[in-house]
Amino acid sequence: MEEKLLPRHIGIIMDGNGRWAKKRMLPRTAGHVQGAKTFEACTRWCMELGIECVTFYAFSTENWKRPKDEVNAIMKLLSEYLDKVMKMTDENVVLKILGNTDPLDDILKEKIKRAEDASVGNTGMKCCVALNYGGRDDIVNAAKTLLKSGTDPDSLTEESFSQHLYTAGLPDVDLIIRPSGEQRLSNFLIWQAAYAEYVFMDVLWPDFSKKDLNAALDEYARRNRRFGGI
Ligand code: FPP
Repeated sequence: MEEKLLPRHIGIIMDGNGRWAKKRMLPRTAGHVQGAKTFEACTRWCMELGIECVTFYAFSTENWKRPKDEVNAIMKLLSEYLDKVMKMTDENVVLKILGNTDPLDDILKEKIKRAEDASVGNTGMKCCVALNYGGRDDIVNAAKTLLKSGTDPDSLTEESFSQHLYTAGLPDVDLIIRPSGEQRLSNFLIWQAAYAEYVFMDVLWPDFSKKDLNAALDEYARRNRRFGGI
């Protein structure tokens, strides 16, 4: 039997939590609670499938515009996840937070550092959470680092530039999955997704199932990826 072509790196835009809650006459935060459960389940499905790396878009640089209660609820879910991940020593997952953590509160920053440090020696799937992440911010931040270091502009290549992005050391993203019916990238991994395949799905993120993940992977495998060649 022929092996299915799997992406090395999947990016997931966890969208539709608010609509999921609204449909049930629940507060938006209830959608995020359910969304966080889907996130944990999906991490597990990706691990079982042998995916090398998966990045979840949890909070964008634009999400600060949301009501304070909602922002706090998302940060709390993340904090609870970090507590759990500290106990998942047998999972062998490498945890990485992508984004600018400077504006986060000190307790959350400390938890992130502890959880990332604890997973450093792990050799399993890389699980990245994009938090206060923006693709444009990622590129500007890399440019700032390079300018400050006095790098010779003529020595710069796409490869050397990408080593200054939050995703340094990770493979480019091969597949972007966006549930909830929206069809845009919303400032997610804009550099890293240059050659990605996009799969947009109608399901809302809290309802996203293993079957939906497999359907997206089937669609990915069907597409003929040519990287600009013929
Ligand atoms: C987008 O849906 C979702 C977010 C901005 C937050 C995603 C956060 C989580 C799933 C929970 C925390 C994450 C972790 C990693 C534990 P939306 O609110 O824009 O939905 P809508 O478009 O239906 O309003």
